[in-house]
Amino acid sequence: MDFGFYMPAQLIFGPGKAKETGSYVKALGKKALVVTGKSSAKKAGYLDLITKSLEKEGVDWVLFDEIEPNPLTTTIDKGISFARENKVDVVIGLGGGSAMDSAKCIAFGVNKEDSIANYFGAQPAGEVLPIALITTTAGTGSEANNFAVMTNPETNVKKALSSPNTYASISIIDPELMLTVPKKVTASTGIDVFFHSMESYLTKKSHPLSRPLSLEGMRLVAENLKGAYDDGNNIEYRERMAWANTIAGIAINLAGNCGIHALGHPLSAYYDLPHGETLAAVSLAFMKFSINEAAEKLAEIAKILGVKTEGLSVVEAAEKGIEAFEVFLKSVDLPTKISDLGITEDSIEKLALNAYEYSSHNFVASPREMTLEDAINLYRESL
Ligand SMILES: [Fe+2]
Repeated sequence: MDFGFYMPAQLIFGPGKAKETGSYVKALGKKALVVTGKSSAKKAGYLDLITKSLEKEGVDWVLFDEIEPNPLTTTIDKGISFARENKVDVVIGLGGGSAMDSAKCIAFGVNKEDSIANYFGAQPAGEVLPIALITTTAGTGSEANNFAVMTNPETNVKKALSSPNTYASISIIDPELMLTVPKKVTASTGIDVFFHSMESYLTKKSHPLSRPLSLEGMRLVAENLKGAYDDGNNIEYRERMAWANTIAGIAINLAGNCGIHALGHPLSAYYDLPHGETLAAVSLAFMKFSINEAAEKLAEIAKILGVKTEGLSVVEAAEKGIEAFEVFLKSVDLPTKISDLGITEDSIEKLALNAYEYSSHNFVASPREMTLEDAINLYRESL
């Protein structure tokens, strides 16, 4: 056993909580920068809901709504300048992982002189504006951890910034905001929750505090993602997925991800593909690659996926679990191969080198430690 625990974010969970945003934010500042994407939160009326709540509580606000999926360091730099010009004293992220992670980066960058692109990786605690996050998807878990993933368009690096000061002071998780998430986004964000749970379980860094959260995260996704996908208006499925997302976010904060995220990030960095889809597309090859080193854990995952494991050896149960996972991915129309995403053999070397260079910590943390050669083979087997 070798672990620490630091989780200073205050989580406010429950249907209807988003309309109370102002009452929480007023304790953090007087002038807020609301960071969001160009359309979805606006279209669904959530931006109005939040800003009305701020006004009701006497919090002034300005809007930065230029965040794209897989947010770019150049866009974040623009947001940082905007925050400085407007002298805001609190940053609110409203949206999915992209908006929330960008809000963290803007709050972090306001008091730095250079580009946010110089701050990938673990960063020391420094002066950061208070952060409030309102998540509109069940995916990323950003509201419950200090990771902020961004992409540098000049170098194609997609990686997280994390600092002891990039936790949200307040995170509001309101499942009612998730009722309007489109089917495809429900699947790709929901499966990210499963991978946060699974990778934080498979990693060599998993420990007694992270493991129960990882297992519960996987159980909740296995039992509720298909329901949320088929019946998006059902608040109970959305609520359970929101909770899974939050605890999986804490699990990666405790133990981290491993090889699946390492192989997925370069696909988004080069081809701007949805994060969850990239993970799904490389996951089966990674699970097979890990079967001997992680047999017991994969057998445990098989049970969560509904496999009857009595009478099977541990490795047989693990194999059945991988088969069941493929069926699960297909049940919510997710890719199971990188060729489903249009990736061909000629991209593999570039992808593997990128993963090796920027996610080597997750190569090492994987249950079967990965080399550059392994990464090349895993992409090839995922074709
Ligand atoms: Fe993720």
